Amino acid sequence: MDPAEFRRHGHALVDWIAEYLAGSERYPVLPRVSPGDVRAALPADAPERGESFDAIFADFERVIVPALTHWNHPGFFAYFATSGSAPGVLAEFLAAALNQQAMLWRTSPAATELEEVSLAWLRRLLGLPDAFEGVIYDTASVSTLHGLAAAREAAIPGVREFGLPGRAGLGQVRVYCSEHAHSSVDKAVMLLGLGQRALMRIPADDRFRMRAGALRDAIAADRANGVTPIAVVATVGTTSMTSVDPVREVLDICRSESVWLHVDAAYAGPAAILPEFRAHFAGWEDADSIVVNPHKWLFTPVDLSAFYSRRMDMVRQTFSLVPEYLRTAEGSRGVRDLMDTGIQLGRRFRALKLWIILRHFGADGVRAVLSEHIRLARQFADRVDADPDFERLAPVPFSVVCFRARPRGFTGSSADLDELNARLLDGVNASGDVFLSHTRINGAFAIRLAIGHLRTTDAHVSRAWELLRAHAGAAATA
Ligand SMILES: Cc1ncc(COP(=O)(O)O)c(C=O)c1O
Repeated sequence: MDPAEFRRHGHALVDWIAEYLAGSERYPVLPRVSPGDVRAALPADAPERGESFDAIFADFERVIVPALTHWNHPGFFAYFATSGSAPGVLAEFLAAALNQQAMLWRTSPAATELEEVSLAWLRRLLGLPDAFEGVIYDTASVSTLHGLAAAREAAIPGVREFGLPGRAGLGQVRVYCSEHAHSSVDKAVMLLGLGQRALMRIPADDRFRMRAGALRDAIAADRANGVTPIAVVATVGTTSMTSVDPVREVLDICRSESVWLHVDAAYAGPAAILPEFRAHFAGWEDADSIVVNPHKWLFTPVDLSAFYSRRMDMVRQTFSLVPEYLRTAEGSRGVRDLMDTGIQLGRRFRALKLWIILRHFGADGVRAVLSEHIRLARQFADRVDADPDFERLAPVPFSVVCFRARPRGFTGSSADLDELNARLLDGVNASGDVFLSHTRINGAFAIRLAIGHLRTTDAHVSRAWELLRAHAGAAATA
């Protein structure tokens, strides 16, 4: 593609993206396609001869766009709603053009040092001490995997060299988290060769917070049985109901037991930027490692997960391996080579979007958006609380509301109520105006409304409520 052609298509694409970001509401949030539709519309083989960008883009509009789930739609309230903000999109455009591989300082001094700078900015905004060193991974799942890998290395010296089978007499090991922790903790434990059964899920209290006393008892019982505790994962903002584990109490237990504490604040982490929300995070400043996902609630296009550790030396001890062809003179001059703090060698220039986003919004802009999302969630929760046909199923610490319909005079079984709510959710989502998801709370089917998109306003939340009210009657009589 020559420069003139690139300019022509590039300008057309920028126009298309600008329209899309401003007008994503013209699409149904959930696409109206069936499994296999996209595959069937595309040839089985790659073309033998190159095609024009015009032809490719025509197919993009014809086949791909109708099958998109529009995460950038302000009526997207499912899972954790996110925003690929315009400055973030521009940053991705630049990053693709620059095609940096930030593995060694030498392979991209700019990407290496910008990662340090932008993570330091974020760290200070979050109120974390400078003792935390940061690195960017793709997702929270991978951040947690790295945190637990370092914890395993710290608890079982030599595991890197000898592996688990080589550690005769080690016996069983354990990682602890709350019953509401994310499945990425299971996956990390599985991948680290500890086995899923090495993960103990500690019961939570009636506010869905890990019971610190139960954690203490579990560790004591394990020690008495010769089981080696490796790490505890505390969550600030659990996936289903965004509950907050008592990080300070969990930290005290970890300290007295010399166990690694990893804090999963993948979703809620950015709320620490709001002074009035800091209390939820008390204790995380002394954790061994922390994950916060700017791609969840900091307007950053997927993917960007910020991992911080006070013990990055242990992360390096776990992962650093420098073959001859990657040895550089700078390596001995104390520069950071980011390949040393992770499993990946080649690394995308993700820091560019974090840097651009933090500059574009400014701390004040970030605080304003997060506060608005929290306000909208509370307002929605008030509507649920005030309606005799609905009930809220969990507290609302951040911007997610869990609730269900329970029509007055409902006399069916709990299974009937679950089915009613599943029908209600399907009916609302079929509108195309909004997309909500579900979870289970104390065994009951719960509808979740998560607010996190930059362009979500009162009108979108009101529309969701209007649809819920309108469909609740139909779901009850179906
Ligand atoms: C609390 C928590 N941790 C981790 C994850 C995994 O995030 P990622 O998709 O970045 O791996 C999620 C996903 O929603 C989450 O809610």
